[in-house]
Amino acid sequence: MDVQTTDPEYVDRVKSLLGDDGYQQAFADIEEASGLPNTAYWSNEWLSLEQERVFRRSWVFAGAEAEIPAAGDIKPVDIGGAPLIIVRDRNGIVRGFHNVCRHRGAKLVQEKCNRSYITCPYHAWNYELNGNLRARPHFHGPGKMDKFENGGGEKVDLIPVRVETWNGCIFVNVSGNAEPVEDWLSPLTNRTSSYDYSSIRWAGKLDFEIRSNWKLVYENYMEGYHVFSVHPKLLKFAPMNLRGSGEWDRHVFYNDYVFPEADEGRGSGLPHYPGLPEKDAQRGLWFLCFPHFAAEVYPDQFTILVSYPIAPDLTREELHVFLIGEAATSNAYQKERKSVLKMWDDLTREDIGMLELLQQGRLSPAYDGGRLSPHWEAPTHQFGRRIIEKIVAA
Ligand code: FES
Ligand SMILES: [Fe+2]
Repeated sequence: MDVQTTDPEYVDRVKSLLGDDGYQQAFADIEEASGLPNTAYWSNEWLSLEQERVFRRSWVFAGAEAEIPAAGDIKPVDIGGAPLIIVRDRNGIVRGFHNVCRHRGAKLVQEKCNRSYITCPYHAWNYELNGNLRARPHFHGPGKMDKFENGGGEKVDLIPVRVETWNGCIFVNVSGNAEPVEDWLSPLTNRTSSYDYSSIRWAGKLDFEIRSNWKLVYENYMEGYHVFSVHPKLLKFAPMNLRGSGEWDRHVFYNDYVFPEADEGRGSGLPHYPGLPEKDAQRGLWFLCFPHFAAEVYPDQFTILVSYPIAPDLTREELHVFLIGEAATSNAYQKERKSVLKMWDDLTREDIGMLELLQQGRLSPAYDGGRLSPHWEAPTHQFGRRIIEKIVAA
C-alpha cells in the first residue's frame, strides 16, 4: 500500500464486505492476485462507500462548458450520490451548488434549462444564479415578500460546491479539499506537453446506459487483452504487437502506441493540434485520471470517457469528443465529425456487450475474482487496489 494514513473504521468496513482474503489480494503480486470480489460489483453498501469516499473526495468530470454556453444555463448532475447543479451565472462564471432548497429540501432543478433565477417548485423560494437567496414569498404571512439584496447568509443561500474548469471541461470536487485540477491532471499534461489543449473545442457527446458496474468500464478500458477478440477494427488499426500494457504514474494510468496508418475517426481528415511534432502524428495515448476521468488523445482529438454509477449494476457512460478549432463545429467538417462519433459509438458498443457479461458472471458464487494476466492486467488489478486505498484513506 502507498504510504498513507488509513481510517481504521473504514478498513473494518471494507474487510467486513470483502472478507480478509478479498482485501489482501488487492495488495498481492499480480501472479498471486485476483480481481475484486463479487460484492464490490453487486453490493449497495459497497457502492455507498465508493460514492462517499471515492467520488466525493476526488475530482469528477461534470460535463463540458459548451453544454452550458449561455448565462443562466443550468445542468443538474449527480456526483457521488449528491444531486448538484452546474450553473453559468450572469458574469459567465461556471459555478456549482448542491441541488437542494434551503427551506424544506426539495430538489430544485430536474432537467437542463436556462433561467434568470432559480425558483424552488415547492414554496417558491427564489435564488440568484450566484446562489444568493433573493426572495421568500409569504414567508411571514400572506402577501408578505421577504426580499434580500445580497443573499440571506450561509444558512439560506445555496450551498456551493467546488468547481474548476480546464480547457472547456468542468470538474467538481464535493469534499472541497482535492488538489487543484491542474496538479491533478499533471501526469497527463506533462506526458502530452506537445499538444496545445487550448485549441480543443467540444464537438458533441454520446450517452450510454450499461447494465454493469461502473468499475468494469475502466477495468476493461485499461487492458488491451480483449482487443484480440472484441475489437476487430481496432485490431487492424493498431496491431497488438505495437501495444504495451500501460502503467500508473501516481493516480494516473497511461498507455500509448504508434499506429502504422491514420484512419477515419483517428488522425485522418481532420486538423491536428497546432504545432504537433511529426512524431506524434500517428500516436494514440490514453489515460485514466483516478477515479473516472479517462481521456484518449489522438492527433486530431481529445476524447473523454466517463462513467457514473447509478446502482451497483447500472452505469451511465458519456463520451465527450473534442476536436481541434473549427473542426468541432464548422459545416466543412461535418462528415469527418460524424466518422469520429461513429467510430466511438461502434467501439463502445462492442465493449458494452462484454461489460454486461462481466456483471452477470459476478452473480456466480463460484467466481472468486479470477486469475489475471501478468502481461496485460497489472494496471486493472491496481485499479481495484486504488479503490480500496481511497476508501480507507483518512
Ligand atoms: S422546499 Fe423550497 S421553498 Fe420550500
Ligand atoms: Fe474495449
